[in-house]
Amino acid sequence: MTLMRLENHVALVTGAGTGMGRAIALLYARSGARVFLNYRTSSAAAAEAAEQIRAAGGRADLLQADVSDEAQIRDLVARVRAEAGRLDILVNNAGWTRRIPHARLDDLTGEVWQRTLQTNLLGPFYLIRAALPLLRQSPHAAVVNIASTGALTGMASSIAYVASKAGLLAITQSLARALAPEVRLNSIAPGLIRTGFAGWTEENYAPADAAAPLGRLASVEDVAEAALYLATANVTGETIVVDSGLYRLGPRSWGI
Ligand SMILES: NC(=O)c1ccc[n+]([C@@H]2O[C@H](COP(=O)([O-])OP(=O)(O)OC[C@H]3O[C@@H](n4cnc5c(N)ncnc54)[C@H](OP(=O)(O)O)[C@@H]3O)[C@@H](O)[C@H]2O)c1
Repeated sequence: MTLMRLENHVALVTGAGTGMGRAIALLYARSGARVFLNYRTSSAAAAEAAEQIRAAGGRADLLQADVSDEAQIRDLVARVRAEAGRLDILVNNAGWTRRIPHARLDDLTGEVWQRTLQTNLLGPFYLIRAALPLLRQSPHAAVVNIASTGALTGMASSIAYVASKAGLLAITQSLARALAPEVRLNSIAPGLIRTGFAGWTEENYAPADAAAPLGRLASVEDVAEAALYLATANVTGETIVVDSGLYRLGPRSWGI
């Protein structure tokens, strides 16, 4: 019998009820991990994902928490400790944004800045810090942070969002250096992905499909495959761009 890739691993995925987080949770579970699915509001979607995992013979637990609140983060980690006694893989996937045209500087209020940074940057930092004692007990601890190509291009739903994801890439590197060799930290920078995030619709996705060098936008499953690789790969401080070639190669419409 072959051992599954994440056999005997415990993973915590934030924002796991929907989109990429859900795809990552399902793939980790299929790969043998016991998965804790965090959600904030999507309780029915998270319960359905957990049910899907259990129906396939896997182990899934649901944990409601708002990752922008440090007290809730500490409680979240305490529950993982109480129920599993270990944590091998942490995926900081939960994210929040509001679409604000970049030139409209006055529309980017302090409130939007706060919520964006609190959810996308401080939340992952607080969660890594809270989970560190558990991660350090794992012989193969890994953190995967979901950033965005917006962090590399400046092009995304708001300037605050770009800053939060660029900050996430930066702390991934700082922490990868600081916590080596016990904990590996890497990030994924997805391009535009069909999840409805930020209120993007087919009007945005269809032209992006046409522009992508690979002829279609990357999918949540593509991101999950990268997250599976980073869960076990002997690399740290890296960023994997998953965007069908757009960031590296530019749009097909350039015709070069
Ligand atoms: N889709 C894209 O084009 C794209 C591109 C680059 C990067 N990303 C990043 O990819 C990640 C996943 O997004 P997605 O595209 O899969 O969209 P999504 O389906 O809307 O997922 C976002 C998730 O974040 C969770 N979340 C938001 N605020 C939270 C909080 N305070 N506490 C806990 N969970 C919270 C949501 O949970 P609830 O629904 O339970 O509230 C939701 O499950 C995000 O970090 C996003 O920034 C997305």
